[in-house]
Amino acid sequence: MPTRVSAPARVFPASLEQVPPDMRLPYYKDGARYLIDGRVRTWNGPCEEAVSPVCVGDGGSLHRHVLGRYPMMTAAEAREALAAAQRAYDNGCGTWPTMSVADRIRHVEEFLPRVAAVRDEVVRLLMWEIGKTLPDARKEFDRTVDYIRDTIQALKELDRTSSRFAVEQGFVAQIRRSPLGVVLCMGPYNYPLNETFTTLIPALIMGNTVVFKPPKHGVLLHAPLLQAFADSFPPGVVNTVYGAGRVVAGPLMEGGGVQVLAFIGSAQVAALLKHQHPQPNRLRCVLGLEAKNPAVILPDADLDLAVKECTLGALSFNGQRCTAIKIVFVHRSVAPEFCRRLADAVGALSVGMPWEEGVQITPLPEDDKPQWLKKLVDDAAAGGARVLNAGGGTIDQTLYYPAVLYPAQPEMEVCQVEQFGPVLPVVPYDDEQQVVDWAVKSPVGQQASLFGGDARRLSQLIDTLVNQVCRVNINSQCQRGPDVFPFTGRKDSAEGTLSVSDALRVFSIRSLVAAKANEVNEAIVSEIVRGRHSNFLTTDFIF
Ligand code: G3H
Repeated sequence: MPTRVSAPARVFPASLEQVPPDMRLPYYKDGARYLIDGRVRTWNGPCEEAVSPVCVGDGGSLHRHVLGRYPMMTAAEAREALAAAQRAYDNGCGTWPTMSVADRIRHVEEFLPRVAAVRDEVVRLLMWEIGKTLPDARKEFDRTVDYIRDTIQALKELDRTSSRFAVEQGFVAQIRRSPLGVVLCMGPYNYPLNETFTTLIPALIMGNTVVFKPPKHGVLLHAPLLQAFADSFPPGVVNTVYGAGRVVAGPLMEGGGVQVLAFIGSAQVAALLKHQHPQPNRLRCVLGLEAKNPAVILPDADLDLAVKECTLGALSFNGQRCTAIKIVFVHRSVAPEFCRRLADAVGALSVGMPWEEGVQITPLPEDDKPQWLKKLVDDAAAGGARVLNAGGGTIDQTLYYPAVLYPAQPEMEVCQVEQFGPVLPVVPYDDEQQVVDWAVKSPVGQQASLFGGDARRLSQLIDTLVNQVCRVNINSQCQRGPDVFPFTGRKDSAEGTLSVSDALRVFSIRSLVAAKANEVNEAIVSEIVRGRHSNFLTTDFIF
C-alpha cells in the first residue's frame, strides 16, 4: 500500500505474492547476452547480479530483489566490439557509412516495430531495475519511440535541403553531412533507455557505427533489444559492451579508435574518459553532465503554482533527473508562506512501489544513496537548517522520504553538490543579485526556473541568467522537453547540443563536392546525378 511522506509506514512487499501478478518479474534469464558483429551471443564468462531497488520480504527480512545477471566483460571483449565497429565503418568506406540516406532511414524504420514489440518487457524492467513508476516507465519508452520517428523526419528534412546544388562564384557544389566514425555511447541510469537512444539513434542514422555500454542500473532492459538491432542493421554497425566502466571503457578510449564519445553522467568520469584518448583533438565529445538548477521565487510569485512546479520539478523520479530543480531561492518576504505550502505538498506525496497507482516516491537504485542523502541533511542541520515536512528524511531500506530543508545557506554541502535525490534545500534571499552571484560562481550551468509576475523584474533576471545557464523557464519547472528544443549546458553541465535536429549535426560533419562551373564539369556532374552513380552526389528527394 502506498503511504504519505508525512506518515511513513511499511511499504515494501512482504513476499513476491504481494506483487500484483501482472507486475511481477520472473528471474530474467536473457541478461547474459551481448551483441557483437551482428550476432547475439550468450556470455559464458563472469557475471554480476542485477539487483532491484525494490526490496522483497522472504519470510523475515527484506532484501533487494535479484532480477537477473549481466556480463562482466574484460578489455578483450571491449576491443572485440570496437574492432567490429571499426570493420563496419572501414575508415568511412564501409557499406553503412557510404549507404544512401534513404537506405539508412529504411534500416531505422525496420528497427521501429521491433522495438515497439518489446514495450511491455522493457517497461517492466525499467520499473524493477531503477524503480521508475509505471506511467513514467511507459512515458520513457514511448518518448524514445517518438524520438526515433522524429529523428527520421528531421533527417528527411535535412536531406531535402542538402539535395540541392549551390552555385556560387563560379562553383557548383553539393553540401551534405557525413559520418565521423566509431561512436562510444554511454547512457545514465535515470533514463537508461531514452538517454542512450537519443545519442545512439542519431549517431547511427548519420552513418556512424556504434559501441554502446548500458549503465549498471538499467542494464537488463537492453537485452530484449539486442535481436532487434541484429535484425535491423548490418553486422558491426551496433555492438554492446557490459561491465565496469574502468575495465571496458578505458581500453576503448586508450586505443584511439573511438572518434566520438557520447556520454551522459558525471563530469569526473567524462574528464577521465576524454583524457584517456591518445589524440584528444580527434575526439568529438557529446556530453550531458552535472547540474544544480535553481528555482527563484520572486516576491510576487503565484505561490500555489510555484509550489506545484517546484515539487514536481525537484521530486519527480525522486529528484533523479539532471534537469531537476536542485536548489530553491525564495525571497525572504514570502519565504514562510512558500515553505509552509511546499512542506504540505511534499508531505502529501505518495510513497510506494513503482507499480502502485498514483505513487510518486519510489526506492533508489544507487548503493547506499539514502545514507549519503542523510549525511547531506545532517550537515545542513548542523548549520541551522531543519527538515520542514513531517517524516522527511526517514530511511526505509532503499527508500528515502523526501526532505525540504530550510533555511539552507549556499555554503552548505547540500547547496553545492548535485544531490540527485529527494532532498530540496531552500535558501532565503533579499536581493536577486545574490542569486545571480551564486549562478556566476556555480561550476555548472544547465537551466533555471523563475517564478514571478513582474515583467521588468523577470527581464532583469532573464538577461543575466541566459548567460549563466542554457534555458530559463518562466513559471514552470526545468525540463529537457519538448525534444525538438535545444538541450545543453555551460561549464561542467554539457558539451555539444542535443535536440532531434541538433543531434544529427553533432554526430556528423559537413562535407561537400565542388567543381568549377564549366561545360566539362557540368556534364560530369549531370551524368553522375542522372545515372544515380553516387550516394552522395544526388538530387533524389526523400518523401
Ligand atoms: O536527466 C536528464 C534528462 O534528460 C531530463 O529529461 O527533463 O525530460 O526529465 P526530463
